[in-house]
Amino acid sequence: MNHDIVEHRNMASEILSFIEELNHLQHVDTILDRILLKARQLTHADAGSIFLMEDGDLRFSYVHNDTLYKADAPTAATYADFRVPIDESSIVGFAAKTRRTLAIDDAYALVPDRPYQFNPSYDEKMGYRTTSILTIPLVTMSDKLVGVMQIINAKDDRGQSVPFSSESQAYLPLLANNAAVAIERGIMNRELVLRMMKMAELRDPTETGAHVQRVGTYSAEIYRRWAMSRGVEHKELARTADHLRLAAMLHDVGKVGISDFILKKPGRLTDEEFSTMKWHTVFGARLFVNPTSVLDEMCYDISLGHHEKWAAPGYPGQVKNILSDEARMGEPILGEAIPLSARIVALADVYDALSSRRSYKDPWPEERVLGEIRKDSGTHFDPSVVEAFLQIHEVILAIRARYREAVKD
Ligand code: C2E
Ligand code: SIN
Ligand code: SIN
Ligand code: FE
Ligand code: FE
Repeated sequence: MNHDIVEHRNMASEILSFIEELNHLQHVDTILDRILLKARQLTHADAGSIFLMEDGDLRFSYVHNDTLYKADAPTAATYADFRVPIDESSIVGFAAKTRRTLAIDDAYALVPDRPYQFNPSYDEKMGYRTTSILTIPLVTMSDKLVGVMQIINAKDDRGQSVPFSSESQAYLPLLANNAAVAIERGIMNRELVLRMMKMAELRDPTETGAHVQRVGTYSAEIYRRWAMSRGVEHKELARTADHLRLAAMLHDVGKVGISDFILKKPGRLTDEEFSTMKWHTVFGARLFVNPTSVLDEMCYDISLGHHEKWAAPGYPGQVKNILSDEARMGEPILGEAIPLSARIVALADVYDALSSRRSYKDPWPEERVLGEIRKDSGTHFDPSVVEAFLQIHEVILAIRARYREAVKD
């Protein structure tokens, strides 16, 4: 009987479809939870945990244990705070240091010549009995160690603890590589959002939240419609829409560099004040000048480009020496030279500005907003983006209703 081959094929194909699912997850806690669950399902394991790299150590970050914690019940163990150094004295540290997968059949029967030892303190404290352990370093495709995943107590059909199978040992590292990439992305997203929220809090706590949610969501939906009309392949479409949703939220992050006097001025800006205000595009882009991901690149494009216009000079245009005090705004950037993400956010942002109250203007009725956008199609806005926007106008209204201002207009 060819049981082994069936097992192999199942595990490989399950991992492949899981990788696809991972691509759609953006929040690090969701990602850790899904990874542990999948790893445990594939290996029939009772428990598991993930340690993430933090300041040169491994920090305990996530745990599952079917025996000790019942499904979904909040447990203090989830928030246990301890660190393990990256050295050969512990199992987790050894796997991280050597970047090798380590399969242990019985934690209490380790061959004494091993450099690492099993630490029984968790078992003792919790009344648990660890037997088999599969420990896998989480290393990205570009060889960066993100953390370590540990899966504990594989079970046989009768629920007895058994060693991890050779299939598990062979296939879980494939899952782990992809997990590492997703985790890295999730951490980055969390940092971005934290950065943004801190800034938002510092400045304008009443308005920012709902505005950024709306602009992010409008932009993602406009893109979806735009891309569908062009037959963009599903995976790329979904991924770009997801990135755009986050990146568009940060379009005005550079406003933190603008003084309260200008930012909150109740009334029209003078020409000089408006010239200062224009720098919010450059200030925002500076946060992303050294992109480490596609998401960073998109944040850069959007911060810098969301006030450019399709067929008329917008701002800032070509910026020379973007990081220096000598930075100057320059030659206009027009048409398709403006990144698509920025062309989409330009429309989403103006739609939102016109339909909302500002310290300097009342909200406009919807018909007037749409009239303005149609009028500016082909001059301020990319007509293909306006077309996609108008096609999903009902969706836009639903988003607007979903993310209302917390304070009354
Ligand atoms: P914002 O309030 O988020 O507005 C974003 C964009 O929406 C504006 O970019 C502009 O293209 C459009 N928009 C907003 N209100 C109107 C309007 O009444 N009519 C038309 N046709 N378009 C409108 P813009 O002009 O580059 O401004 C960028 C940012 O500068 C604004 O972001 C706002 O924070 C600030 N700002 C611009 N003008 C004024 C002003 O007169 N007073 C104050 N206090 N702030 C202003
Ligand atoms: C499997 O599902 O083939 C793995 C079983 C085990 O690791 O114990
Ligand atoms: C503004 O943001 O108020 C300037 C846009 C305009 O009225 O043309
Ligand atoms: Fe802006
Ligand atoms: Fe804005």
